[in-house]
Amino acid sequence: MHIKTTLTVSGLTLVLLLGAGVANAQTYRSHVQPLIKAQCAECHGADAPTLAEFKLDEEKYKKEKLGPRTDTYENLLQIMVYPDSGAFMRRVDDGTSTSDKKPGNMYKHLGATDTERQTNLRMLKNWVGEGAWNLNRWGARGDVPGITKEQMDKVQAKY
Ligand code: HEC
Repeated sequence: MHIKTTLTVSGLTLVLLLGAGVANAQTYRSHVQPLIKAQCAECHGADAPTLAEFKLDEEKYKKEKLGPRTDTYENLLQIMVYPDSGAFMRRVDDGTSTSDKKPGNMYKHLGATDTERQTNLRMLKNWVGEGAWNLNRWGARGDVPGITKEQMDKVQAKY
């Protein structure tokens, strides 16, 4: 009886430790870049316009099926943190955090199956950091307030 309890407890501790280890190990280089390259580069790769170029003529680029370039860490941060704060989170969210409870229009690109999409979303959330999955824009829109410094401080997004 005693042995069984000890084993159960240490098994649980091991699972918790492993869980924490995995969460801390998320980096752009090891986890995020390979995903973006495989799932997003077709339309957000090196041929795509930079965010600033994209904003000059969104309609033209949309017709060409090109979104803002996310081929580097720096380019990716522009659609997460500034100037297009929260765009990344709004577009790949599964509807859990969006104001209309619908998935963002890029969620479907996270994987071929729901399991794959959910696994990748979980990885991205862990990478961005605890409490940092905020969909707010830089400025307020409608009744959604702009992002705060406190929210921004939570962003980990390790390189
Ligand atoms: C088949 C092409 C295609 C794929 C694949 C694709 N996107 Fe997009 N994405 C677009 C286009 C076109 C736009 C611009 C139109 C729009 O806003 O919906 C866009 C817009 C975005 C935006 C909004 C950027 C902004 O600042 O307004 C984000 C964020 C985004 N995509 C993320 C992703 C991520 C992350 C992936 C991969 C998981 C991905 N996209 C895969 C075509 C694609």
